[in-house]
Amino acid sequence: MSAMSNPNELSQRIEHLLAQMSVDQKLGQMIQGERMSVTPDDVANHHLGSVLSGGGSCPGANRPEDWIAMADAYWAASMRDDGRLPIPLIYGVDAIHGHANVLGATVFPHNIGLGAAHDPDLVERVAQATAREILATGVEWTFAPTLAVAQDIHWGRTYESYSSDPALVTSYAGRFVRGLQGDLGQDTVVASVKHWVGDGGTTNGVDQGNTEISEAELRAVHIAPYLEALAAGALTVMASFNSWNGVKCHGHRYLLTEVLKEELGFDGFVISDWDGADYLSPDYSVAIAMAANAGVDMFMVSADWRRCLRTLQELVANGTVPMARVDDAVRRILSVKIRYGLFERPRPAERHWSRAGGFGADAHRAVAREAVRKSLVLLKQEGDILPLSTDATILVAGKNADNRGHQCGGFTVAWQGVSGNDQIIGGTSIWEGIHAVAPQAELSVDGSAADPSRHTVAVVVIGERPYAEGMGDIRVVPQVGTGSARRDGPADARLGQPMGAGSGFGGITTSLPAYGTTLELARLHPEDLATIRRITAQGIPVVTVLISGRPLIVTPEMAESAAFIAAWLPGSEGQGVADVLFGDHPVQGRLSFPWPDDDGATRYPIGYGLSLN
Ligand code: BGC
Repeated sequence: MSAMSNPNELSQRIEHLLAQMSVDQKLGQMIQGERMSVTPDDVANHHLGSVLSGGGSCPGANRPEDWIAMADAYWAASMRDDGRLPIPLIYGVDAIHGHANVLGATVFPHNIGLGAAHDPDLVERVAQATAREILATGVEWTFAPTLAVAQDIHWGRTYESYSSDPALVTSYAGRFVRGLQGDLGQDTVVASVKHWVGDGGTTNGVDQGNTEISEAELRAVHIAPYLEALAAGALTVMASFNSWNGVKCHGHRYLLTEVLKEELGFDGFVISDWDGADYLSPDYSVAIAMAANAGVDMFMVSADWRRCLRTLQELVANGTVPMARVDDAVRRILSVKIRYGLFERPRPAERHWSRAGGFGADAHRAVAREAVRKSLVLLKQEGDILPLSTDATILVAGKNADNRGHQCGGFTVAWQGVSGNDQIIGGTSIWEGIHAVAPQAELSVDGSAADPSRHTVAVVVIGERPYAEGMGDIRVVPQVGTGSARRDGPADARLGQPMGAGSGFGGITTSLPAYGTTLELARLHPEDLATIRRITAQGIPVVTVLISGRPLIVTPEMAESAAFIAAWLPGSEGQGVADVLFGDHPVQGRLSFPWPDDDGATRYPIGYGLSLN
């Protein structure tokens, strides 16, 4: 906060705290445990610096009041005044498209849709609204924004990337961080830019894979957006699962310490990804030492944080991790906590936004709806089929027409997302949005009710179902040693399966099944083309709306359609689609990724998108 704008005062305060801390308290600050395995007493007894919610890990009935109560209990434990130095805990979540783990959140379009809007001002407002919804649950830190510059749309995390063009990602990076962190006052949260670095450049788009490029290309494409984010004051950076030319980023001293901290002057702290250090070596102790010495300051641990803490204690005792490295990590963690004003903030239950509410507020939903309509890209239009008339008897079909879960995608309520409308509380499905303004519209998901004597036009909403991370990969090339071949790999607790020992060498999500083996929608989801054809066979023209986390090869679907709109993963506010279909707002989205063709060539370049006259 403003009191800490003086660097001397900040460093004096840090040194004063550090001097009073025991080695165990310092090492505790370097641990972030997942809430399922951490009690408030653990926080107090082991001085844990942070707790997180992994994807879909939610307290109680998963309402804001449950979150506030949880955050309050952890915070109170960290501040327990029993003779030890109280250091406030910082709680982290993946609010990557709104605070979407929580029931009733405003769910914004995933980053790929924001990219298509080409609107940095909008992005800053999305981040501001997201910050307020995070604060309304008593939480203060989000693992966002993702600054990946995805180079291969086979990657399951393509939708977390604004664009394959580093210039566009760069134009958003600082604005999103500013929207979250602002003046570090009461309306703001701490950002974490991720994943450092090269996550979007892996060979064949394999999640957690190997980015095989020169340093010049790494800097020009993948590091460039971070410069803006750091200039905007990003307080934390998350290390990436991927390797750069065979060396994993979590153990990459050159990238973490020499480039990020020394050359670029990053003075916040580096958080590992989910057990991300574990994969550096089959020997856990070696792995933790490599990460700590390379520059990881805080360890995100899915389950066995005690083992991580114990290992760090041993490594410090035997000199493998020097005390100077520990002090540097703890100084960085304290510096973030002090600069964010965490020591001065009241307990979570008493903070402004915990009391003021604002979760799922109309004002936030209005920003999300604006983002939806600005993200829609019109790829094809025959004649003047659009805009539609609200008086028409419109047939609405397709498996994604009335499915708020599918339109939100991954990282919504559950790590891998959800299906159906029940768990997305508030907002509208695309069907609900159409029906609200065109009351004669009729829903027939498989299109079998198509009747040319009544329906003058159909809107068919097709596409992908939700996924996250490697489970969204399209694996064209079989992976050696990773991928679905590794049936004995550790399960991920976020899928409700018990965790393995965490000793797999190669990462977690690559051991889980991928989404598919082809970018051709007609092979991935043949039901979609069948639905379209059921309707066009009746002579009814079809407007297709594609829900997807990436461009897909849609040649036959597009040929059958009179108009075709890429809607990405629009989130909870499906009404934004109707805003454009009925001409209340212009179509203004433009591709932020090239769109592929059958033969692997580009069908539409970045920047493509039709307008309606
Ligand atoms: C993802 C991160 C995320 C973390 C915590 C990891 O699997 O790679 O992006 O922040 O989980 O949920």
